[in-house]
Amino acid sequence: MAHTCIVTGGAGFIGCAVSARLAAKFDEVIAVDNLHPQVHGQSMRPELLHQKVRLVTVDVTLDATWDRLLKDVQPDVIVHLAAETGTAQSLTEGSRHANVNVAGTTRMLDALARTYLLPERIILASTRAIYGEGAWRNNDTGGIVYPGQRSRSQLECQEWDFPGLSFLPFTALSTEPRPTSIYGATKLAQEHILRAWALSLGTKVVILRLQNVYGPGQSLINSYTGIVSLFARLARAHKSIPIYEDGQMLRDFIFIDDVAAAVCAAACEEAPSANAYDIGSGQVTSVRQLATLIAGLYDAPAPHVNGAFRHGDVRHAACDISPARDDLDWRPRWRLEEGLRALCRWIDAMEP
Ligand SMILES: NC(=O)c1ccc[n+]([C@@H]2O[C@H](COP(=O)([O-])OP(=O)(O)OC[C@H]3O[C@@H](n4cnc5c(N)ncnc54)[C@H](O)[C@@H]3O)[C@@H](O)[C@H]2O)c1
Repeated sequence: MAHTCIVTGGAGFIGCAVSARLAAKFDEVIAVDNLHPQVHGQSMRPELLHQKVRLVTVDVTLDATWDRLLKDVQPDVIVHLAAETGTAQSLTEGSRHANVNVAGTTRMLDALARTYLLPERIILASTRAIYGEGAWRNNDTGGIVYPGQRSRSQLECQEWDFPGLSFLPFTALSTEPRPTSIYGATKLAQEHILRAWALSLGTKVVILRLQNVYGPGQSLINSYTGIVSLFARLARAHKSIPIYEDGQMLRDFIFIDDVAAAVCAAACEEAPSANAYDIGSGQVTSVRQLATLIAGLYDAPAPHVNGAFRHGDVRHAACDISPARDDLDWRPRWRLEEGLRALCRWIDAMEP
């Protein structure tokens, strides 16, 4: 029998990279994607989508989508990527995020139940956003504290940091999820829904909590996500990159090929032992350092800190990738400088 994989959101940034790898492992790979205009502009099959992948242009929030699809296709594995992904946008368009991310997930599961289909494994692309500000260490007592979400008035007074506390990398083993955006809350809901469903029906779910992904293929028109490609486009236009807060926010930027390899490992390797893994490059960079590196690649003017902020953003984000390394037989291969050069080459080719 054919070995089949469905990739929801398969025409997106991560979807294209993942589907290309899965096409080498499965007899049939089906990308289920509505070619969301905010991400894709015109509704066209992305050039980066591997030719072996069948694209079904439908909306995951509709029962009819799933009923039609599952009549023909019995997936062995589902990689669930379809989502609304705007962190700040979700605070003013919460229902839109809830509808796709939460109801889109339950509709998929209901349809599987209606058709008595149980995939061997479901992989969810979750996010570091589920952690919010995460856990910090008290510098005096050494104790672990959760400082919680920075309030609007704190940010308006430019109180960016948590005095007396040191940031700790997120780890699925012990960091409690406390999302600071509706996007993060809906992604956490996806995790809970999939876990509850999989446990009660007796199948596996593997959750990958991704840090900031960047690289060729990321939407160049979606202004709500993708700080790295946004910075690259500004620098390419010889503009000084504006940096929020004081520029000292820490992030882990992971190259798309490394994420695709992790998703593929979660889908194909022997069953992983945990159900949630943190996926990052392991390299921590401040937003100012990132902007300076990108400005350097284009000989652009130096970036400038503008003191603005974005609701829902967290002060620092990084993670412990050792469980994913050990269990998924995966490791990140791309250094930031090398990945940024690859991204800039791609943008130059796309926008000559
Ligand atoms: N890119 C990152 O930095 C990052 C970080 C953490 C987690 N993630 C997660 O990875 C997944 C993929 O993200 P991405 O960066 O590739 O985003 P993307 O926007 O490029 O891809 C998402 C895809 O989902 C499709 N989609 C949206 N709504 C849909 C609907 N109702 N029905 C069918 N398809 C729909 C879009 O058309 C798009 O092709 C998301 O679940 C996201 O939460 C991404």
